[in-house]
Amino acid sequence: MNTYYELMGGAPTVRKLVEAFYPKVLEHPLLAPIFPEDITPVMEKQYEFLTQFFGGPHLYTQKYGQPMMRARHLPFPITPERADAWLDCMRRAMEEVVADPDLRAAMLHRLRGPAYHFVNTYEEDQGQQESSR
Ligand code: HEM
Repeated sequence: MNTYYELMGGAPTVRKLVEAFYPKVLEHPLLAPIFPEDITPVMEKQYEFLTQFFGGPHLYTQKYGQPMMRARHLPFPITPERADAWLDCMRRAMEEVVADPDLRAAMLHRLRGPAYHFVNTYEEDQGQQESSR
């Protein structure tokens, strides 16, 4: 069976997706404040991670070991609103680089579970967390 990685067009499309995604993240009022100014290293890691997430070569694991993505997101206050915002930036990036709407919907659906799983902060304790950082 074809993987999403193959169906979307392999490495060049993953690269384009990451390049379309991060400018949107950095323009988003909820997301921009928690990302570093120099986004290049994050883009590279995301390229490696999404490659394996969508069924391509395990580039991220080869370099960094077990992804443990929820744990790697714990230092950042991820609210449900930020998960929505992340997914919306990804949806818009996919619209630019993946032509098939059914494929886009399926890929976005695969990311929803992880995105909400990474939520670690709720509105009521956000102020407290941020003031103690
Ligand atoms: C739910 C909303 C999300 C937010 C707000 C978010 C935010 C972040 C932030 C702030 C970083 C760290 C940037 C830095 O290094 O300073 C990061 C790293 C990363 N995120 Fe997310 N993220 C979200 C969801 C996701 C999802 C759904 C995935 C993939 C399934 C993902 C994959 C990654 C990867 C691969 C890294 C790099 C990890 C590393 O340092 O090795 N993120 N994210």
